[in-house]
Amino acid sequence: MLKNNKKFVVANWKMNFFQNEAIDFCRKLALLDPKLREKLIIAPSEIYLGLINYLFPDFSLAAQDISMQKFTGAFTGESSSQMIASNGVKYAIIGHYERRIFANEKSAQIIQKAKNSLDAGITPIVCFGEEKQGDDLLLALDEVYLANLNIIYAYEPYWAIGTNHIDLEVISSNIKKVINKQNTIKLMYGGSVNSQNIVQLSTIQGIAGFLVGSASLNFDHLLQILKSI
Ligand code: PGA
Repeated sequence: MLKNNKKFVVANWKMNFFQNEAIDFCRKLALLDPKLREKLIIAPSEIYLGLINYLFPDFSLAAQDISMQKFTGAFTGESSSQMIASNGVKYAIIGHYERRIFANEKSAQIIQKAKNSLDAGITPIVCFGEEKQGDDLLLALDEVYLANLNIIYAYEPYWAIGTNHIDLEVISSNIKKVINKQNTIKLMYGGSVNSQNIVQLSTIQGIAGFLVGSASLNFDHLLQILKSI
């Protein structure tokens, strides 16, 4: 589990790695200094969660999504939050930009998924961000905000996801705006975080951790990120 005051990284592997590749990666992670690994939550494909938990029971795991359906039943293709939790999963990424785009998820569903996660004892990591630079970020937050201290929020400007483009000034000023509005919020940042820009990004006040996509697929880059926070 994460230490409360330490910065952490969520490795969002998205739809990458075959089973043997995911397990090989985890084997390397298992050899790391536990102080570094303690800062890491991995979010592999859902189909590997149970196996990774079985082989590496001390790893912190996140699901990349949670079902809208709360209870077990006739919902072909779905896995409930309780089922996910029964695989040792403690976190879930909810409302990622790619879910909004590819699965047409809307804010009401995202809030339901966050509630389902909480009910199953999973900490939701609720994503929000502005679509284009200059869009109303606080409105995007309001749409998914639930006053619950057990939720982690991830500020992910859509223009920074998978683009290799960050704008430190805009990101810092937006984070300040969010914290001024919700001063108890536990906030992460995500979008084009890599082994080079992590040092600068870590200087931004008020960030609890980082949601890392493509850079988390490379062991050396991920290690560098963990060492830099
Ligand atoms: P990226 O993805 O690091 O590849 O930009 C981040 C994310 O989608 O959470």
